[in-house]
Amino acid sequence: MSEALTILSPVKLGPYDLPNRLVMAPLTRCRADSGGVPNALMVEYYRQRAGAGLIISEGAPVSPQGKGYPYTPGIYNDAQIQGWQAITSAVHERGGRIFLQLWHVGRISHPALQPDGALPVAPSALKPAGQVLTEQGLFDFVTPRALELAEIPMIIEQFRHAADCARQAGFDGVEIHGANGYLLDQFLRDGTNRRADAYGGATANRARLLLEVVEAVASVWGSDKVGVRLSPLQPFNDIRDSDPQATFGYVAEQLNRFNLAYLHITEMGKEAPGAAGPAFNLDELRPLYNGTYITNAGYTAETATAAIAENRADLVAFGKLFIANPDLPERFARNAPLNEPDADTFYQGGTQGYTDYPFLSD
Ligand SMILES: Cc1cc2nc3c(=O)[nH]c(=O)nc-3n(C[C@H](O)[C@H](O)[C@H](O)COP(=O)(O)O)c2cc1C
Repeated sequence: MSEALTILSPVKLGPYDLPNRLVMAPLTRCRADSGGVPNALMVEYYRQRAGAGLIISEGAPVSPQGKGYPYTPGIYNDAQIQGWQAITSAVHERGGRIFLQLWHVGRISHPALQPDGALPVAPSALKPAGQVLTEQGLFDFVTPRALELAEIPMIIEQFRHAADCARQAGFDGVEIHGANGYLLDQFLRDGTNRRADAYGGATANRARLLLEVVEAVASVWGSDKVGVRLSPLQPFNDIRDSDPQATFGYVAEQLNRFNLAYLHITEMGKEAPGAAGPAFNLDELRPLYNGTYITNAGYTAETATAAIAENRADLVAFGKLFIANPDLPERFARNAPLNEPDADTFYQGGTQGYTDYPFLSD
């Protein structure tokens, strides 16, 4: 009789054989140099976490326009490629695998973070509620500029170029950030997309930009080294949809044609049903997608193993647990106690709360 699958069982993902099913979720930590260049401190942080079946890097802006937070590492110029190279080498030396998360924030930015103090861009000129952190402090969000139809190819080209930079930097693949209220999600959901052209209105139109980005990125990498992240329940960044079951169901079905490395669904927002739109049923989404499926948000070793055993997911991504436990797979294997994450150092603090969490062996 074959043994039941657990979070520690090996799995194939795209062309890669992973030793376990723990994915390190993408985690913005704001430790890059100004100029968005990855540094030696980041090398150490990722090296420490190379025991993950797969690391997904923090979101990396695909262009200066794609940036929405200070000290986030970009993936569009030579200095950044070199900085990332040191990270991918360190992870590979320890036998790990690492994908880069391709990120354009759209309206979740501010002129203080944009080249030449420009307005952030978005599908429609709708101001998000809330505030944005810049190097000069907190500011209210501004009303973004709606992208012209003629500018859409330039957005797709930013993703394609960044995907090529990630290839040069030695990553094993890339994840397209279609989640959490950023640009591709702003196009997808009708609360933020009021366009009347081929990129707005009907579900197929709102999903068009994401699917065209997938195609462009897959042209660089081959689709089996490309993942997509979506967040159907997530209200973060003032986003909602009037029919998420239809919107995200359509996207999951459309993604089947690419033979991707994986679809990554974060369940963030499940604790506040209704905040991102009418009720969403994750169990209805799962069977629509034929490939490898990663789930995320609030999982433990036990609930992750249950999700895998019950075929609700093939792999599980852990965010806060990987922040606090660089050796998380080993801790799960030994049923060892876990370090507690310190939220005060998620986005600041240098080495503190970044590379100084103890290993079991310490
Ligand atoms: C400090 C921090 C930074 C994050 N940065 C990103 C990011 O860059 N990209 C992304 O898609 N999600 C990001 N997330 C969301 C996480 O990937 C993950 O979905 C979330 O933490 C829930 O999983 P968990 O309960 O295992 O922590 C971030 C979360 C935290 C706490």
